Amino acid sequence: MRRKITVVGAGFVGSTLVQRLAERDYADVVMFDIVPNMPQGKALDIMQAGPVLGFDTQVTGTNDYADTVGSDIVVITSGFPRKPGMTRDDLVKKNQEIVSQVTEQVVKYSPDCIIICVTNPLDAMAQIALKVSGFPRERVLGMAGVLDTARFRTFIAQEVGASVRDVQAYVLGGHGDTMVPLARMCTVAGVPISQLISPERIEEIVQRTRDGGAEIVKLLGTGSAYYAPSASVLQMVDSIMLDKKMIMPCAVYLQGEYGIHDLFVGVPAQIGSKGLEKVIEIELNPSEREQLTKSADAVKELVHVMGI
Ligand code: APR
Repeated sequence: MRRKITVVGAGFVGSTLVQRLAERDYADVVMFDIVPNMPQGKALDIMQAGPVLGFDTQVTGTNDYADTVGSDIVVITSGFPRKPGMTRDDLVKKNQEIVSQVTEQVVKYSPDCIIICVTNPLDAMAQIALKVSGFPRERVLGMAGVLDTARFRTFIAQEVGASVRDVQAYVLGGHGDTMVPLARMCTVAGVPISQLISPERIEEIVQRTRDGGAEIVKLLGTGSAYYAPSASVLQMVDSIMLDKKMIMPCAVYLQGEYGIHDLFVGVPAQIGSKGLEKVIEIELNPSEREQLTKSADAVKELVHVMGI
């Protein structure tokens, strides 16, 4: 029997992710949304690409949580995206309610699943999913760092005219204005970017990375990014499904690592079939550590706003 992945929310991020997953051909996919018929329509459309692209993935669109039963992975994308001028943090109350309801339902049908939270404000929503699910921290992850790092890598590659594949980088911290792109550890084919790009230009790229989501929101007019976000979730799902044990920045529930307690914050994590397999603690310099603490404080404030 094929394994099963559920994606909750058949909006831009959810449906693009389902398309990417269907093309992977390693699991059947259920796409849930509260809007009647819409996920069913999108599922049919995606599945009818199968004969052309050569995948046999069964894609089921549904408005009934019973169809999600026995999922190995559940990705939560349901919620409202940011509007222009809105910060991720403005969204907190609205999406808190949605993520709580969704988590309750999916856990009922898939008590052994691994949850990947995508809904913003990301770190706070992951914290809700962890609390409501009652799962161990290994099985609740948030997708943010892979995306923020992908944005950083894109800009660095463009700057030096290199292949994105040769650019290694980390972006840590919360998925918000306080995220911490680790410029010191960014390399192009092993060469530190400090040898390739001026400090002023690096700072500009770091800032553009921090504003990466907002830049797209502004250009789109309505809605927010979904191509790179869905690709970033896919990398996490790949590492779980194929037990690749890749190390990537993810929002994970820290319990003392980096001096942070009981809070979701983006850090390098090893992801495998069990979900979070290891938090990687890299040595930060005092300035980076201060920025990470500041970023964690911003997440803490949101968690406080939510009253959990
Ligand atoms: N249960 C299930 N689905 C829901 C619920 C709910 N309670 N409430 C809303 N939805 C669905 C909507 O019907 C919609 O189809 O969630 C979907 C959200 O899709 P979009 O509005 O297209 O938003 P999208 O761009 O996909 O972003 C989703 O991911 O990156 C984040 O910030 C982004 O929080 C946002 C989320």
